[in-house]
Amino acid sequence: MSRIPFPFDIKDVEENLAKELMVHYSGEFTGFVQVGPKKYFFPHKYKEEAEDIYNIPVKPDDVYVVTFPRSGTTWTQELVWLVKNDLDFESAKETPLTFRFPYLDISILMHPVLLKPIIEDSIANPSKFHLAEMAKPGVVKVANLKSPRFIKSHLPLSLLPPGLLDTAKVVYVARDPRDAAVSFYYLSKTFGGAPKDFKTYWNYFIRGLHHYLPVFEHVKEAWNMRHHPNLLFLFYEELSKDLPAVIRRVADFLGKEMTQEQVMKLADHLNFSNFKDNASFNNVDFGHPSIVFDQQAPFIRKGKVGGWRDHFDDEMVEQADRWLKENLADTDLRYPAWELTDLFTYCMSSSYLQISISEPCHNQYLDGELTGFVQVGPKKYFFPHKYKEEAEDIYNIPVKPDDVYVVTFPRSVYLLLKFQDLPAVIRRVADFLGKEMTQEQVMKLADHLNFSNFKDNTSVNNVHLRNPSFVVDGEAPFLRKGKVGGWRDHFDDEMVEQADRWFKENLADTDLRYPARELTDL
Ligand code: A3P
Repeated sequence: MSRIPFPFDIKDVEENLAKELMVHYSGEFTGFVQVGPKKYFFPHKYKEEAEDIYNIPVKPDDVYVVTFPRSGTTWTQELVWLVKNDLDFESAKETPLTFRFPYLDISILMHPVLLKPIIEDSIANPSKFHLAEMAKPGVVKVANLKSPRFIKSHLPLSLLPPGLLDTAKVVYVARDPRDAAVSFYYLSKTFGGAPKDFKTYWNYFIRGLHHYLPVFEHVKEAWNMRHHPNLLFLFYEELSKDLPAVIRRVADFLGKEMTQEQVMKLADHLNFSNFKDNASFNNVDFGHPSIVFDQQAPFIRKGKVGGWRDHFDDEMVEQADRWLKENLADTDLRYPAWELTDLFTYCMSSSYLQISISEPCHNQYLDGELTGFVQVGPKKYFFPHKYKEEAEDIYNIPVKPDDVYVVTFPRSVYLLLKFQDLPAVIRRVADFLGKEMTQEQVMKLADHLNFSNFKDNTSVNNVHLRNPSFVVDGEAPFLRKGKVGGWRDHFDDEMVEQADRWFKENLADTDLRYPARELTDL
């Protein structure tokens, strides 16, 4: 097969800047490069391997996990490997993840000066210094792998083989870049070198001056391809919030059937506290004195969403806000983590008020309808007969440019607010309506909207609607429980199975997925 020329310019980072950076990134002795119009940043060694990596032959049964560093790669690799290998926990335990699922481009981070003693030691003690094997050029490593091959890469999609997505399966994971930055900082302090303080690092980070940056370009490349059938786009925060649901999505994507029991067993295996004690990936033996600069932080470190807050002063918070805004202006990419830590404060309050109206429903079961029902069009939308009288009028309502509609299936809106992260949703709504809001205003509104305040708010809890003529049964208030997954208390086993089938059938022709599924199992 003919070789494809590497399509991007690879430019050396200007000498003075490179020198300044090498003071911090002390594992690099030669310099750095920036690649193509997006200026992806790498140690100079990338230049030697760029075209080889670009030309790696892709096989249809390859599975890649691609991420910006510290976005949950290891977590996802173990998940993907186990799903694809029918939960072979034994082999997963025996063989370190780095061999089952090698890191394609790690060699570009290993400067020859550091690599030399590693190779020497590995000749004397091959079982201890696996790094020499890991540090072979990517093209050599993957050529030696048995199929189906599992490959990890931190390279953005544009720098991987161009036929990758049309041939093999790729799972891409993104994480709130503020959390990824903190995590990458700690990892770099251990391997490769980093500034003494996080703030200095952060200032390089947002200027795109560390390996694999700029992060937004990296993520947007995958986000823009998220509808490709061979790409599964995940957020670290989704794994964190609802691991069983993510396991199911991965299984679907890889064409694997899994029982509920298997899903839960895998979720347990992958949970942070089990994971961090698992020597298959958190093993310091992979280190070598030549590249371990500082043993402060383990590879599997804190595993938190929103931990960045402990590392940002006010100035950095503002800077990050601007940076996020600028970089997300031209995309519909949104990180579910935004303000996630506030979510629990604002949304997890649930309570129960045993009064108020029920949905007006009837016949044998639907007591509020006395005439009959209609079904509309090929989709058979179901209404009381009275819809017939109003359908055309509604269809012809004149629309004004400053009208604002809220459209939902009944009883759905709260799920959105609750599950997603109320302050983040408020910001999205404000952006959408062209309104500026301060952080204080956002939090004040979030407080107003939080369930316990909202349910006591007569203006929205529809007490005025409790006219005896249509209150059939006053058992449940309009704002009832405000829980995600409360349906479980109302479903027997048969109904759960039926619901599962129904979801499956109805979601087969769409990429619509409910973030709430399996939440209660989490
Ligand atoms: P922190 O440093 O914030 O703790 P990667 O594998 O891409 O290098 O990502 C590493 C990050 O994912 C680390 O983040 C690590 O702790 C976190 N992580 C790894 N396994 C995890 C798990 N099972 N649960 C939660 N977080 C996990």
